[in-house]
Amino acid sequence: MEYRQLGASGLRVSTITLGTMGFGGTGWASAVGQIGVEGARRQIGLARDAGVNMIDTADVYSNGLSEEIVGKALGAGREDMLLATKVRMPMGDGPNDAGLSRHHIMRAAEASLRRLGTDYIDLYQVHEWDGQTPLQETLAALDDLVHAGKVRYIGASNYAAWHLMKALGVSELRNYNRFVSQQIYYSLQNRDAESELVPVSLDQGLGILVWSPLAGGLLSGKYRRGTTAPEGSRHLSDWDEPPVNDEDRLYNTIELLIEIAELHSTSAAQVALAYTMAKPGVTSLIVGARTEQQLADNLAAADLQLSADDISRLDAVSAEPLRYPFWHQAKTSSDRLGPADLSLLGRHIG
Ligand SMILES: NC(=O)c1ccc[n+]([C@@H]2O[C@H](COP(=O)([O-])OP(=O)(O)OC[C@H]3O[C@@H](n4cnc5c(N)ncnc54)[C@H](OP(=O)(O)O)[C@@H]3O)[C@@H](O)[C@H]2O)c1
Repeated sequence: MEYRQLGASGLRVSTITLGTMGFGGTGWASAVGQIGVEGARRQIGLARDAGVNMIDTADVYSNGLSEEIVGKALGAGREDMLLATKVRMPMGDGPNDAGLSRHHIMRAAEASLRRLGTDYIDLYQVHEWDGQTPLQETLAALDDLVHAGKVRYIGASNYAAWHLMKALGVSELRNYNRFVSQQIYYSLQNRDAESELVPVSLDQGLGILVWSPLAGGLLSGKYRRGTTAPEGSRHLSDWDEPPVNDEDRLYNTIELLIEIAELHSTSAAQVALAYTMAKPGVTSLIVGARTEQQLADNLAAADLQLSADDISRLDAVSAEPLRYPFWHQAKTSSDRLGPADLSLLGRHIG
C-alpha cells in the first residue's frame, strides 16, 4: 500500500480509504448495504491487513448508525486508524438540525464523537455547501474544535472551486485552520472534477479524497450494454447517483475497462480504481463494498500499475469536450499556463 501526503498537511493517508455508507443500511442507505458490527469488523480487518489507514463515515449515514458501527467494530483498534466523518446534512427535523452554523456544528461534532466512541476526529469534513451561513461562522466553529483537541484536521466535500477559494481566503485572513482536503466525485464515468476541482487542489495544496470511485458500481464491469447486472446490485434499485448523462460513452468506457482488465488478468473494477489513483492531485479513493469479495478485489487495486498506453486509451474513451473558458484558454493562452492549468489543458495544446 502506498501512503500519500494529504495535500499540504503532514498527514499520510493510504491510497485506499474504507467507505462506510453501507454500514447500517437504513433509509436511503439501504440500497448501498446492510452491514452490521460483525460484517464491519471483517471489512475493517481486511482493509487494515491491506494497509488501509483511514475510514470515512458521516453522521447522516443511516442516521448515525454507520458511525456507531464503526466505533463498535474498531474498538481498541481506533488508535492506529484515521477516522474521517462529516457534518452538514439533516440529523433531525428542527430548524437547526442541519447546515453549517456554529450551533449545528458543535452539537453534531459532540454527537459524532459519542457515536464513534472516541475523543477526537482525525478529519472533520463539511459534507456540502451551506450558502446561508457565513463562512466565517463555519470556519471559526471548526477552528475552535481543532483548538479544543476534538478535531485534528478539517476538510470540505462537494464544494465548487469558488466555494473552496472563498473558504481558504477567510481562513487565511482570520488565521483559522484551513481545509486540508476536499472529498469529491471523480471517476472514469464523469471527469467534471478535472475542470476546476483538481486544479484548485493542485494550486492550493488540498488533498483529494475521491468518493464513489466506481460510480457506485457502474465501472465494476457488471453493467454492460444489453445485459442485466446481478440481482441486488445498487443501480438496479432506484439509486440515482451519479447521474448518467451519456450512456454510450459509459458503455464504451466499460468495454475498454474489461479489455484492459483481461490484458492484466485482473478485474474491470481494479482497472477503474488504478486509473483514478494515477491522476494528478488524487490522494486516496474511498471504496465502498457490499460484500467482502468486492472489498478484497478493490483493495488489490492499490498494487495495480497501468501502462501509459492504458491510461491514454481510457482518457480518450471517457473524454468530454472542454467547457468554457477552458477551450478558449487552450486556444489563446497556451504561452502562459501554470502547472495547475496544465493538469486539464496539457493534452489539449499539443
Ligand atoms: N462526500 C459525499 O458526498 C459522498 C457521497 C457518496 C459516497 N461517499 C463515500 O464514498 C464511499 C464509497 O462510495 P460508493 O459506495 O458509492 O463507492 P463505489 O466504490 O463507487 O461503489 C461501491 C459499490 O459498487 C459495487 N462494487 C464495489 N466493488 C465492486 C467490485 N469489485 N465488483 C463488483 N461490484 C462492486 C457495490 O455495489 P453493488 O454490489 O450494490 O453493485 C458497492 O457497494 C462511501 O462509503 C462514503 O464513505 C461520500
